[in-house]
Amino acid sequence: MHFDCQKLEPRQCYKLLISTVVPRPIAFVTTRGEDGKVNAAPFSFFNAMDYDPPVVVLGLEARPDGRLKDTAANIQASGQFVVNIVDEDLAHQMNVSAIDFEPHISEPMQAGLELTDSIDVAPPRIASSPVSMECEKLVTVELKNARHVVLGEVLHFHVRDDIVIDPEHFHFDVERLGAIGRLNASRYTRTRDHFDLKRIHVDHWDTETISRREE
Ligand SMILES: Cc1cc2nc3c(=O)[nH]c(=O)nc-3n(C[C@H](O)[C@H](O)[C@H](O)COP(=O)(O)O)c2cc1C
Repeated sequence: MHFDCQKLEPRQCYKLLISTVVPRPIAFVTTRGEDGKVNAAPFSFFNAMDYDPPVVVLGLEARPDGRLKDTAANIQASGQFVVNIVDEDLAHQMNVSAIDFEPHISEPMQAGLELTDSIDVAPPRIASSPVSMECEKLVTVELKNARHVVLGEVLHFHVRDDIVIDPEHFHFDVERLGAIGRLNASRYTRTRDHFDLKRIHVDHWDTETISRREE
């Protein structure tokens, strides 16, 4: 079936995107407001975009009334945020933090999140998160309807010790990390069902097959 996005409602495009770009990693983002209050909220329009320097991206839509979400407003004002990766143990608290609270309500308090100081940014990280990334905003692209796409440079990674297999060679235990991903609606996925697919070097792809397939 074909869908022409130029003829669809935004909500229909949203459903197409979240049902086909799956699974999406989840950034559980902590920020600090101008009053010092800590805000926490999950975002699955999130990914890694570069590594020199390490760059992540967040897609922050506006509230239905057009106001910026607290995360977007705080990043706009302070230029700092922390991305905390969500494992199964953190899933419920992440979900509580997605409730549409007014700015004066603290999600970390409502969700019972323990916070710990960051090194170089004002927002704290979530103590029970397996991985946290201290980020500084590089640029915000403002799309229509107050949507903010934020690119941030990762200044520090905090990785729980049991996930680090070999710090010298930067080997990490992805299964132990146990990150969850978002599918559509309220459906999530685990990351423990995996298979290996080795990269094929061009020298190992025989020349006869190349010429046959190019004919
Ligand atoms: C798993 C999950 C992923 C979400 N992803 C996004 C997203 O990518 N962009 C967005 O604007 N809202 C997303 N939301 C909704 C926000 O988390 C929600 O609007 C939250 O209340 C925003 O909080 P804030 O105003 O404190 O920033 C997501 C919610 C959940 C549960």
